[in-house]
Amino acid sequence: MRLDKFLSHATVYSRAQVKKLIRDKRVQIGEVIARSADYMLAENDRVLLDGEQVCLPVAQYFMLNKPAAYVCANSDSDNPTVLDLIEEAAEDLAIAGRLDKDTTGLVLLSNNGQWVHRIISPRRECPKMYHADLDYPITDDTIKKFKQGFFLKGEEKLTKPAILESIAENKVSVVISEGRYHQVKRMFAACGLHVQALHRVSVGDITLDNSLEPGQYRVLTAAEINSVLL
Ligand code: URA
Repeated sequence: MRLDKFLSHATVYSRAQVKKLIRDKRVQIGEVIARSADYMLAENDRVLLDGEQVCLPVAQYFMLNKPAAYVCANSDSDNPTVLDLIEEAAEDLAIAGRLDKDTTGLVLLSNNGQWVHRIISPRRECPKMYHADLDYPITDDTIKKFKQGFFLKGEEKLTKPAILESIAENKVSVVISEGRYHQVKRMFAACGLHVQALHRVSVGDITLDNSLEPGQYRVLTAAEINSVLL
């Protein structure tokens, strides 16, 4: 990796600021003052800024079983946030697809912005599975509507095909590949049904680990991380 790219990833400085740090002779590679921003770092080069070693941030990837009453936000003056539950959260940990305060289940978090973007980018249509408790059973017509797509109140874009299945009395599984505001609740409301409880089970190929109690989290496995990159 180029020295200026490395330093801009590893510090708060922009590439332009890094160039100035180098000109000001504040950067060393091992014992030697760095001279050019385009120096290609070797695997075992030690980079120092003002005499202190600089390292790339370690990538973090977590899955959390979100409990109700926690909000998916970086900070909130009235409610606890999902970030409060992750003890070792890096400052730049981002939430890959938010859930409502009363929704429970799978939340993915990472400080790898590209990875998060792949999950939330509408272009990628990442499938998300939810279990929902409803006030009434669904009908064949509800299933058909979800499959064909329809207009949500106040919107001009048809919903993308969603797969709706009954899994128990008044309990359904639904897979959507978009992330509109309150989407699942609004889709059911448009069919005259009220969502009494909503739980996210999976995002893409990553399924909530059922050993995680509400509020617990774990680091993702390499296979889970890589499943997003495929
Ligand atoms: N759809 C909703 O309505 N709420 C959520 O939290 C997630 C999807």
